[in-house]
Amino acid sequence: MQAEGIAFVTGASRGIGSAIALELARRGFEVWASMREPEHGAGLAARAALTGAKLRVVHLDVTRPETIDLPDGMRVLVNNAGIEGSQLPVEHAPIEEWRTLFETNLFGLLEVTRRSIPKLRAGGGVVCNVGSASVLVPMPFFAAYRASKAAVSALGESLRTELAPFGIRVLEILPGAIDTDMLVRSDHAPEAVGRAGYTEMAERVHRVRRNPALAPTPTEQAAVAIADAILNDGAPLRVAPDPMGAALLAAWRAQDDEATMRPMLAFFTGREAG
Ligand SMILES: NC(=O)c1ccc[n+]([C@@H]2O[C@H](COP(=O)([O-])OP(=O)(O)OC[C@H]3O[C@@H](n4cnc5c(N)ncnc54)[C@H](OP(=O)(O)O)[C@@H]3O)[C@@H](O)[C@H]2O)c1
Repeated sequence: MQAEGIAFVTGASRGIGSAIALELARRGFEVWASMREPEHGAGLAARAALTGAKLRVVHLDVTRPETIDLPDGMRVLVNNAGIEGSQLPVEHAPIEEWRTLFETNLFGLLEVTRRSIPKLRAGGGVVCNVGSASVLVPMPFFAAYRASKAAVSALGESLRTELAPFGIRVLEILPGAIDTDMLVRSDHAPEAVGRAGYTEMAERVHRVRRNPALAPTPTEQAAVAIADAILNDGAPLRVAPDPMGAALLAAWRAQDDEATMRPMLAFFTGREAG
């Protein structure tokens, strides 16, 4: 596709969302950078203005449908807004936390997407969902987050088929480790460490995440890969914007699911693969 028309980005106040908003504006889209607190977007608008790129900051909280106000002329929707939650075993994670995660990561994304479809149908375009490469890894203590992202994955597969006749492509971006507040906040000993029977596994999770080989990718670099996929009419559904996501996606594509999961199961449980 050509970089023309409006690209609407959710969760653009910081992190991956603000980097995508800037990159899409740089490529030539008119970007609507939406966020819960528009006053946090002043710096973003100023950075875009410096290069003459078109970017406006608008209010949108994906969990509050009354704030969803989408423009005519939309060609791209980037569903980026997301939250992570605590790192508790399923046995102990309160159901309210699951509901909170699903409210933002799935239902919020869904409502914005539903309302975007009539706009996108007018001229074709792209729905770009920012998922997570964690859906490809049987990571303990991230079940609620991973389940919310896996639901986005299934939603994207069906949408891709439904929307193809209208010339609308669907992308599922699978970040591995991108240098954002979310990644920093997530880098602590899992809450599971204090739960009987889970301590050893929680320590392993913490150790593996601190591996220097898993250095996070700058947001700007991830944004370039995401913008490339948006503009590439031949892009596959699933795109990894960083080396860790790419390695996980390649392993997942190359093997059957059980073969991919067994070594990870063995690692996290401290037992040999059976
Ligand atoms: N960083 C990674 O390594 C990584 C890995 C896998 C997947 N991801 C995914 O990438 C996306 C962006 O994450 P990030 O790393 O950039 O995280 P981040 O730095 O924590 O930014 C999250 C963004 O989402 C916004 N947001 C949260 N709840 C919202 C709501 N109800 N309505 C509108 N906006 C909301 C936040 O807005 P406020 O400023 O108002 O809080 C913020 O702009 C997420 O979907 C995340 O799951 C990230």
